[in-house]
Amino acid sequence: MTMIEGHRAIAPPKGAAVWDIDPYAPEILSNPEPYYTQLRAMGPVVFIPKYAILAVGRYDETKEVFSDCSRFVSSRGVGLDDFKHTRAWRPPSIILEVDPPEHTRTRKVMIKAMSPKVAASQRDMFVQTAEEMIDDLLNRDSFDAVSEFAERFPTTVFPKAVGMKDGNPRHLVDYGAMVFNSLGPDNPIRQASLERAPEIIAWIGQACARERLLPGGMGEMLYAAADAGEITAEEAGFLVRSFLSAGVDTTVTGIGNALFCLGRNHDEYDQLRADPTLSRQCFEEVLRYTSPVHSFCRTANADTEVAGIPIAESSKMLCVLGSANMDPDKWGDPENFRVTRKPMGHLAFGVGVHGCVGQNVARAEMDAVLRVLARKVSRIEIIGDPVWRPNNAMHALDRMQIRLHRA
Ligand code: HEM
Repeated sequence: MTMIEGHRAIAPPKGAAVWDIDPYAPEILSNPEPYYTQLRAMGPVVFIPKYAILAVGRYDETKEVFSDCSRFVSSRGVGLDDFKHTRAWRPPSIILEVDPPEHTRTRKVMIKAMSPKVAASQRDMFVQTAEEMIDDLLNRDSFDAVSEFAERFPTTVFPKAVGMKDGNPRHLVDYGAMVFNSLGPDNPIRQASLERAPEIIAWIGQACARERLLPGGMGEMLYAAADAGEITAEEAGFLVRSFLSAGVDTTVTGIGNALFCLGRNHDEYDQLRADPTLSRQCFEEVLRYTSPVHSFCRTANADTEVAGIPIAESSKMLCVLGSANMDPDKWGDPENFRVTRKPMGHLAFGVGVHGCVGQNVARAEMDAVLRVLARKVSRIEIIGDPVWRPNNAMHALDRMQIRLHRA
């Protein structure tokens, strides 16, 4: 068996277009739009020889593959590594990287710990923090939106929501980058992220222990589920780790990308200011338009087919969520950012049994940020050109200088 980047190298299936491209090249990760357009144009399932994988980027097929957990499993890894043949760089996630029925049990516990009620209980803390930060930033002439706000807000509120005694902001951001970059090939981006793995993994292990969590937080709720016999104490620690893997970099990216969208579309921002109840759907449109998680993989667990193209067992399927969210056949005018769009069915939070279990918390954080911005800031001015940070699974800004104008 020939292996490539930790998975079995399949032959091009009959009928699939072949595209000699590296979807993990830094220039594509930084500016993915032309790649998305060409991927959709080439066909429903496209063979990429560099990694011997199949990519799907049209809305229908991306949704089909990403949501069908019986044919396309997560337990073999949601990146290029196939855990059936390669050892994962860390013990696999017991929610993201498992299939039903194992997944059903851990997911149930996570759903309870992040219910709409729990998210609502954090609302005042989210709003108060957004007010303090935005007041502070309004006193500055200009600042870097990524380090000074997009990273600062989640790394302040999220450890509090989880109940962490020690929420080291730098470690949290770097751990997220490590988790998401490790889903790609062994390229310089992944290698650079994993350089600090031993130090950060040791810190994460300690930070997730019960004695490092305060009562009343989302982390402690997971240990309470262990007390009730729903999971083991060891599993509770792993699920706290899932909070930290999946809950920080995603919201950092969501905030940065929202500032990018609203700083470039002043008429849309004015609509949000005129009617702050649009904040929820504005966030959904930011997610559709920028897809913070641009691609995740699945693995075919048996021979099957998609759009009439035969898919061999062990095929790694690159599900390009960012492309599906820009498919004109689904969205009509995807290139326009519109806060009134209501993009129901976007894939930025995933779909099916693995659909983002933290979306209530993410929405509550974003709602606080957008409402406070709409109340206090009359205009978001982007100064110079924003710079994107290549990441094997995230579409995130590296830096963007902005000025906030007082309302
Ligand atoms: C803008 C913010 C966010 C985005 C774009 C996002 C995106 C996603 C996506 C695309 C998935 C599906 C993965 C898959 O099917 O393989 C997912 C799953 C997940 N997310 Fe989020 N997420 C966000 C925020 C959060 C937050 C705040 C948390 C934690 C509090 C979180 C925790 C999780 C977990 C634990 C899973 C795995 C669920 C499962 O496998 O059943 N996410 N997220």
